[in-house]
Amino acid sequence: MSLKTKRLIFGILFSFFFLYTIAVDTIGTSKDDGERWLTEKAKKGKLVFQEYNCTACHQIYGLGGYMGPDLTNVISTPGKGPIYAKAFLQAGSQRMPNFQLSEEKMEELIEFLTYIDKTGISPVKKFKTNFDGTISEATK
Ligand code: HEC
Repeated sequence: MSLKTKRLIFGILFSFFFLYTIAVDTIGTSKDDGERWLTEKAKKGKLVFQEYNCTACHQIYGLGGYMGPDLTNVISTPGKGPIYAKAFLQAGSQRMPNFQLSEEKMEELIEFLTYIDKTGISPVKKFKTNFDGTISEATK
């Protein structure tokens, strides 16, 4: 192979390397951190959640009290959802107090729980490593 051909191959490979490096450095990574779900109403709901100390009995993202169920995904769990959650807020239960919340506060709480639902999964998913180095969700 002549020196000229070698230089040509090197030049082509180097240009590809150069362009690829620029692309990797500038494209960046995009992620949805769920901030768009934190609406003004959801922020108010967070304050209501703190005011009534819901976390004394409930967990969010797996943290909190253990008397009541984890609320992280109550909005998207099949068979539950916003109407189901609101029913508990309206009437309480034998073990959960009825806080006599106004309609507005209940709506704000539901919006906050929707934000929580969009930003977390609880319990955390378990993954297993496959023989080829990829991961997949572990089946129980
Ligand atoms: C004194 C403890 C206690 C407090 C405080 C409390 N809860 Fe509960 N909550 C419970 C219990 C216990 C349950 C389970 C229902 C049952 O067994 O009666 C429950 C159930 C729920 C459910 C249904 C969850 C499901 O997955 O079935 C929602 C939604 C809920 N609570 C929201 C709230 C919110 C919002 C607050 C704050 C305003 C709150 N709770 C405050 C004890 C509490």
